Amino acid sequence: MDEIKFLSNPRRKPAGKGAEISFLSRREAETARAYHKSFSQYAPTPLTELPNLARKLNVGRIFVKDESHRFGLNAFKVLGASYAIGRYLAERLGEDISKISFERLCSPEARERLGQITFTTATDGNHGRAVAWAAQQLGHKAVIYMPKGSDPTRLANIRAHGAEATITDLNYDDAVRLSYRMAQENGWIIVQDTAWEGYEDIPTWIMQGYATLALESLEQLRAQGIDRPTHLFLQAGVGSYAGGVLGFLTSELGEDRPVTTIVEPNKADCIFRSAQAGDGKPHKVGGDLDTLMAGLACGEPNTISWRILRDYAHGYISCPDWVAANGMRILAAPVRGDAPIVSGESGAVTAGILEFILAHPEGEAIRKALDLNEEATVLLISTEGDTSPKTYREIVWYGRSS
Ligand SMILES: Cc1ncc(COP(=O)(O)O)c(C=O)c1O
Repeated sequence: MDEIKFLSNPRRKPAGKGAEISFLSRREAETARAYHKSFSQYAPTPLTELPNLARKLNVGRIFVKDESHRFGLNAFKVLGASYAIGRYLAERLGEDISKISFERLCSPEARERLGQITFTTATDGNHGRAVAWAAQQLGHKAVIYMPKGSDPTRLANIRAHGAEATITDLNYDDAVRLSYRMAQENGWIIVQDTAWEGYEDIPTWIMQGYATLALESLEQLRAQGIDRPTHLFLQAGVGSYAGGVLGFLTSELGEDRPVTTIVEPNKADCIFRSAQAGDGKPHKVGGDLDTLMAGLACGEPNTISWRILRDYAHGYISCPDWVAANGMRILAAPVRGDAPIVSGESGAVTAGILEFILAHPEGEAIRKALDLNEEATVLLISTEGDTSPKTYREIVWYGRSS
C-alpha cells in the first residue's frame, strides 16, 4: 500500500482521435473566463517560478500556479461552481452565457424572473465553499453535505457564506447520492463536480470553468516567452479538474500538449485503477477513502473526464499520503532564493511527486518514462492553500506524514 505506483499510457491518442474535447476549446475557455472576469474579485492567480528547486532537481524550469489566491477562497474550485451556476441561470433566463455577467444576474429584472433557487452539493469542503459563495453572491441559497471526517474549519467556512451545511456519516460518493436525492425531493438544483450517466450538463460546465486556470497559465507562460509547458502533473479526485485542464490543453496544443501525469492518493485512486483495468471503462474504489488529501478522496471517476484522461494523459501515479506531506514542506520551506508557497494536502501532492521522481533513485524509471530532463518546463498547480489550517500545521510544523 505504501509504494508509489506508475502506469504509462500506451493507448494514448492524438488530439481529435480520442475523447470529445470540443467543449473545452479556446472559445469555450474564453467564454468562461469572461464570465469570471465579471466578478469584482476576479484576478489571475500568480504563476511562481522556482528556479533554485529546478536547479537542485536537475530539470529545466519549474512553475507553480498558486490557486490559494482564487477569489479569496483559498482553492481553485470556485472556477467550476460559479460558472456552472452562471450557465444554469443563463439557461433559466433563456439567454446566452456569453452575454451573462454578474451584474446581469443580479439585476432586479433577472432576480424577479429567477426567484430564489436552492443549490445543493456534496463536498469535502472546497467545492461546497465555492457553491455556497456563488449562491450567496447571486442572492440564492445553498445546502451542502460533507462526508464523514470532514474538517470542522471547512464546515465553518461554508457556513460563513450563509449556506446550510452538515458533516454526514457517509463517504464522499454516498454523500453525493444523498445530495441528489434531496434535490429531487425538494426541487433543488444539484451542482455536483462529477458526471454520471444522465447527469452531464452541470459537470461539463464545471470543467469548462476550470479551463480558465489553464488558459491563464498558458498566457502567463507566453508572457515570459515560453510557448508551452513540456510536462504537467495534475492531481485527481473524480478527475473533473484534470480533465478540464488536459482537455483544454489538448484542444489548444494538439500533439504539443505537455506530457501529462495524473496523480492520486493510493486510498482513492479510481483513475489509476481504471487505467490499469485496461478495458477503457471507469472503475470505482470503495470504502472510507481515508487519505490526508481530502480533496482527492473520491472513489468514482467523472465519466466525461475519464475518457479525456484515458485518451490524452501520458501516465498515472498512485501514491501514499507522505508524498503530499513532502510536497507541502518543499513548497513551504523552499530552496534558498525561491518564494515559499502555502499549499494544502491536495494542492501539494504534485510537488511531492516531482521531487520523488527527480531526487530519488526509486524515481528513475518514472523520470525516464516521462522523459523529464534538463530541457523540461514543468507546470504544477497548487490547487489549494491551507484549507485545513490545523492539518497544515501538523504536517508543515510538526512533521506529520500520514
Ligand atoms: C484542492 C483540490 N485539488 C484537486 C481536487 C480534485 O478535483 P477533481 O475532484 O475534479 O478531480 C479537488 C477536489 O475537490 C480539490 O479540492
